[in-house]
Amino acid sequence: MSDEQTIDPKEEKEEEITIPEEIPLLPVRDVVVFPFMILPLFVGREVSIRAIDEALSHDRLILLSTQKKVDDEEPTQEDIHSIGTVATIMRMLKLPDGRIKILVQGLAKARISRFLSSRPFFKVAIEKIQEGGLPEVTVEVEALIRNVKEQLENMVSLGKMILPDILIIAENIDDPGRLADLITSNIGLKVDQAQEILELTDSVERLQKVNEYLSKEIELLSVQQKIQAEAKGEMDKIQREYFLREQLKAIQKELGEVDERAEEINELRSKIEKAKMPAKVLPEAEKQLRRLEKMHPDSAEASTVRTYLEWLIDMPWSKTTRDVLDIPKARSILDEDHYDLEKVKDRILEYLSVRKLKKKMKGPILCFVGPPGVGKTSLGRSIARALGRKFVRISLGGVRDEAEIRGHRRTYVGALPGRVIQGIKQAGTHNPVFMMDEIDKLGSDFRGDPSSALLEVLDPEQNNSFSDHYLNVPFDLSNVMFITTANLLDPIPSALRDRMEVLYLPGYTHEEKLKIARQYLLPRQLEEHGITEKILSIPDPAILDLITHYTQEAGLRNVEREIARLCRKVARQVAEGKDRKYLVTTNNLHKFLGPPKFLPEVELEDNQVGVATGLAWTQSGGDLIFIEATKMKGKGGLVLTGQLGDVMKESAQAAMSFIRSRSHKLGIKESTFAQNDIHVHVPAGAIPKDGPSAGITMATALASVFTDRIIKKSLAMTGEVTLRGRVLPIGGLREKSMAALRAGIRQVIIPKKNEKDLLELPPKVKKNLEFIPVERMDEVLDIALLPAGKGRKKSTSRKTAVRKKAVPAKKGAKKKAVRKKTVKKRSGK
Ligand SMILES: Nc1ncnc2c1ncn2[C@@H]1O[C@H](COP(=O)(O)OP(=O)(O)O)[C@@H](O)[C@H]1O
Ligand SMILES: [Mg+2]
Repeated sequence: MSDEQTIDPKEEKEEEITIPEEIPLLPVRDVVVFPFMILPLFVGREVSIRAIDEALSHDRLILLSTQKKVDDEEPTQEDIHSIGTVATIMRMLKLPDGRIKILVQGLAKARISRFLSSRPFFKVAIEKIQEGGLPEVTVEVEALIRNVKEQLENMVSLGKMILPDILIIAENIDDPGRLADLITSNIGLKVDQAQEILELTDSVERLQKVNEYLSKEIELLSVQQKIQAEAKGEMDKIQREYFLREQLKAIQKELGEVDERAEEINELRSKIEKAKMPAKVLPEAEKQLRRLEKMHPDSAEASTVRTYLEWLIDMPWSKTTRDVLDIPKARSILDEDHYDLEKVKDRILEYLSVRKLKKKMKGPILCFVGPPGVGKTSLGRSIARALGRKFVRISLGGVRDEAEIRGHRRTYVGALPGRVIQGIKQAGTHNPVFMMDEIDKLGSDFRGDPSSALLEVLDPEQNNSFSDHYLNVPFDLSNVMFITTANLLDPIPSALRDRMEVLYLPGYTHEEKLKIARQYLLPRQLEEHGITEKILSIPDPAILDLITHYTQEAGLRNVEREIARLCRKVARQVAEGKDRKYLVTTNNLHKFLGPPKFLPEVELEDNQVGVATGLAWTQSGGDLIFIEATKMKGKGGLVLTGQLGDVMKESAQAAMSFIRSRSHKLGIKESTFAQNDIHVHVPAGAIPKDGPSAGITMATALASVFTDRIIKKSLAMTGEVTLRGRVLPIGGLREKSMAALRAGIRQVIIPKKNEKDLLELPPKVKKNLEFIPVERMDEVLDIALLPAGKGRKKSTSRKTAVRKKAVPAKKGAKKKAVRKKTVKKRSGK
């Protein structure tokens, strides 16, 4: 066919053939025929066949004109374009189906001036269109020609199918009109576009139009190519993966391995169903499962999604325990686990009672405050047991990052939920007793404030939709019973403190410890070591000895530890075959536990000059501190030792200044201060000490040294002192007085401003200690210092005799008056 379509540019038949004025017309459907173009046509319509017959019987010339609509079967004059091409029929072939195939060659353009007849074929009168010869070849025309040729090549490189012969011919044409015609008939333009070009008589104009169409076509082609390339790339990747995966499957099948992936997805799906997630959570789980399904199973992202799904599945969305609301039974469980602690037990039983009457209650948040080892944690555990709930415990000590409470976002590498959600998961139910230990040790820094996150956890108004950053879906914490614990109340942020109901566990006296050890600790330790009371028996005096000489604390941690040590020793002996009865007494206790670690301080000290007993408040409860002062020849210096903090040092200096200012009243010669150096030491030097509350104790020790008067034994004191001798209030009276009681102190001097705190002290403390509230340092000295020369075993020194004279005689009387006043006040309450 290629030869039929090509034309020979050198053939210039136009000159030889004269075109008649009247000619048969062949309407063509889907092609526009140009001069010089040779092409085959298939003809089927009756009118068309007749027209061909007519042409063949004369000069073989015929007008080929395109009809306006392709599918018009019987076009009339109006349906045919008036400009067409006169062609000569070069060959004719009758096809078996009745149609005719002709080969035509275009000769010249002509316009139909008149339709002469339309039956049996169209006959028209035409006038030839004169195309002015070759135009002047200007630079513009030259450029246009070159451009068109380049575009043509460009098109081919973009994948347009054009026969190579056409390209060669085009390359050799210099006539813009003929170049335009050639290209138009070979690049597959639409019929309308081709007709438009045919009708343009100016050859340069025609080529410009062609140029325009070429540009458009190239643009189209390049976009098309881009789309194809992309589609192909995508296809390649998918196909490759698919191919590899199929291969993998085949290999696994060959090896007898199951399709783990499908199995995993199915397993997760059924677990999600079983987890009974709330309506807000389920869609998220399903979404993540769908994502996982689409991912490559070994990708890092898939493992993140998998871990997340497992967290969602493991959360106890709908798992709960039913509360035991039997008050007498709860009471007996609490008693079974703990001695005394009546106030706390009562509070728990109240909680239970309310719970019994009102199902959906906003639980109080209890806060147990007290030194270590007083039973805070074990009480929490016991509450859970009494309620029939699960128990979880987290420690907030040293938590500085909000994310530790609330979790990290999942975008974070290695992200995990916060401790609250972890605790709930560990509990396995959504209504456990949840203990947060050491809430007073919560920190905060640049990583956000954990206490604000904690506020949200503990707030009954908003904790029903607590959102952990990792889970990213709300979790209902409103059924959790939160209990917090702290050693000290002061460091707890006030916003948190306001939410909580504080219950104090101040510590135990020796007698109480003895009871607890006998009833709870010893039986438990015996059992844990597999021995019975028949083998090991420890009478009360021995236990008391253990408590006083081997431990020194508000709580029971070390008591329990020492008892465990004792049991261990005996268990070993038994295991080694020395199967006999062991009796531990005060006399042989050291054989089991080694030499005593502590000597009760009061026992240790006799009535002395320069040693005053103070009360300190520490993390582990209250404690006694002894302040020793001594003077030696010197130049009025003051040395302080025993790891004292700045506040305590200043407090010592203030005490010193106060004593100097009172020298006259106390009967101290002014020169004494200048001629002596003073050394104040606070023993137990390894333990750092600070705070202003030892002020009056220091002043007392100093006064004792300078006046050489003895400080009363069995008296302890606490209070800050000012330069003018006023006594200011202190904190931690509860713990301090427990320590005093344990140490066998009888009287405690306290600041007047702390009198109100006495109300809250445990009854046993109030019963056994005499509290003496004071406002001024003078009162302290009157109470604490014995009259000069009194209380000494041997009072033979010359100094004492001298002092005796200096001390005003009325001192003793005044002291009595003060004490009477105190007693009155106390009995009035
Ligand atoms: N009142 C008590 N009755 C019986 N055992 C007690 C009592 N108080 C404390 N204990 C025991 O003392 C030990 C230390 O208590 P723990 O709960 O760890 O103290 P905390 O949490 O306050 O530091 C535990 O074995 C506990 O059972
Ligand atoms: Mg604890």
